[in-house]
Amino acid sequence: MDLELHFLQLGIHHCPDLLVREQLGVSVSLTVNQFSQKMSLAEQQITTDLKELKKDPDHPILDLLAERWSPVTFSDRFLAEETLQILFEAARWAPSSNNLQPWYFIYTFRTTEAFEKIYQCLSEYNQSWVQNAPVLMLAIVDEKTEDGKENYHALHDLGLAMGNMIMQAQSMEIATHMMAGVDWKKAQKVFEIPEAYHVATAIAVGYYGGDPDDLKENLREREFKPGKRKPLDQLARRDSWWELKK
Ligand SMILES: Cc1cc2nc3c(=O)[nH]c(=O)nc-3n(C[C@H](O)[C@H](O)[C@H](O)COP(=O)(O)O)c2cc1C
Repeated sequence: MDLELHFLQLGIHHCPDLLVREQLGVSVSLTVNQFSQKMSLAEQQITTDLKELKKDPDHPILDLLAERWSPVTFSDRFLAEETLQILFEAARWAPSSNNLQPWYFIYTFRTTEAFEKIYQCLSEYNQSWVQNAPVLMLAIVDEKTEDGKENYHALHDLGLAMGNMIMQAQSMEIATHMMAGVDWKKAQKVFEIPEAYHVATAIAVGYYGGDPDDLKENLREREFKPGKRKPLDQLARRDSWWELKK
């Protein structure tokens, strides 16, 4: 049996071993990496080079963490509904204050009306690159507790869910790019989201890839910028607070 063709017929373009077994009802063992070789060689090389460029941790953290970045190019590869469900499942299992799970997501695929609606809510800058992404999402947070009080940890917990989602995505070679540059009031209105909820960010999702040479200069520059962070001693200090240089 041509397994790859079979996957494509099922609309599965990238999936972990477990899902493959489930869908086919057969005992095959394909790893994510074996099944993800859909990029052209040139694309693969650029992605590998960029991974290396973005990676500069002082301590030995997980490769998944070090190699993630927020790209402005994405591969043309189709992102299947089933694959997205895995990302939401990862978000679902994040911890949250009182287990309130205040996170919600609206997601949509390129060429749909909903994609256009999200696109129209984005800042001009984000619009300049986001059309490369096959999927757009809105991350929405419930700001109230069950008894109607302010949930001061709602955004914190959405961040945890996003952390889960983006690491799951990274493990499947899927890139994510969060955007605060979204007119949340407009998005709220367009999608008829009640006032108790708040659109926190938009997110572009797609497989790593694409050709940065097709980008405008400012975006190309951004894509080739090495990953940069403040020094570790400026974010964690033993025993007491300290003077931070602004
Ligand atoms: C909450 C949040 C909002 C962001 N908003 C935008 C945005 O509107 N546009 C954009 O291009 N990048 C946005 N970013 C991406 C950040 O600029 C990026 O994460 C940061 O520069 C670190 O780079 P890296 O993700 O490639 O490691 C956002 C990231 C987060 C977490």
